[in-house]
Amino acid sequence: MLKGKVIVITGASSGIGEATALKLAPSQAIIVLMARRIDRMNILAAKVRELGSESLVVPVDVAVREQVAQAFKLVYDTFGKVDILINNAGLMPVSFLDKLKIDEWDRMIDVNLKGLLYCVAGVLPGMKDAGSGHIVNVSSVAGRRVWPGFAVYNATKFGVTALSEAMRMELTPAFNIKVSVIEPGAVATELTHTITDQDILASFAKRGGMVPLHADDIAAAIEYAITQPEQVNVSEVLVMPRTQM
Ligand SMILES: NC(=O)c1ccc[n+]([C@@H]2O[C@H](COP(=O)([O-])OP(=O)(O)OC[C@H]3O[C@@H](n4cnc5c(N)ncnc54)[C@H](OP(=O)(O)O)[C@@H]3O)[C@@H](O)[C@H]2O)c1
Repeated sequence: MLKGKVIVITGASSGIGEATALKLAPSQAIIVLMARRIDRMNILAAKVRELGSESLVVPVDVAVREQVAQAFKLVYDTFGKVDILINNAGLMPVSFLDKLKIDEWDRMIDVNLKGLLYCVAGVLPGMKDAGSGHIVNVSSVAGRRVWPGFAVYNATKFGVTALSEAMRMELTPAFNIKVSVIEPGAVATELTHTITDQDILASFAKRGGMVPLHADDIAAAIEYAITQPEQVNVSEVLVMPRTQM
């Protein structure tokens, strides 16, 4: 079903993006890897090829509008189309508001929200012309529930969830561009590595008993969303660890 499809994955250098590339690799697709860490993506691209798909590494900071435009131009110049965009790049340097970590607030808004929109802009004209396409946005359970310390991250992910529904309404019936939002609960990845608020880190350390998902569990949800029959649009998938409240 995915054979020959051009699939762009942002945030492909680790975690959910990397697991998704590996999950889809046996399908003989063309998997384009986008993120900033080139070495990691080159190693992943070699594995994707071994597993059966073509792969192209495109280094990009999704927060930089011109870089994103150039990246998608390269993909269209090389392959002539994008069938599926998996909008997964994101970061989560959560902190309590009174710490005033304004640079981190900016970065989350720039990457999680604006970066995602720049990637949508990168594929929308081509998908409209083709009369088909699928955009998968990786939001979060934090796009449905708020917690103290998560304010700005929550705002970005509520934004992604809202955007996804608006995109589905505008793009799916009119242009045959499917739109799905995937909402993971806690997943064991590098996502917490950007947290600098020691109080948040201490509160995480006290949380015991919860076994996080594997990145591959979310890759499976993404694969499900993009392999349904023509008449189906998988609009929203929330995947929680069994032990997370
Ligand atoms: N892990 C969880 O518990 C969880 C739960 C719910 C939702 N999510 C969401 O899942 C998505 C993937 O996160 P993950 O858990 O897999 O964490 P991760 O391992 O830290 O992966 C994040 C990915 O985003 C990329 N990225 C970050 N900033 C970027 C930028 N400016 N430009 C391009 N790429 C950028 C990173 O690549 P480079 O650093 O190489 O650029 C990396 O590949 C995120 O949107 C996250 O919010 C995660």
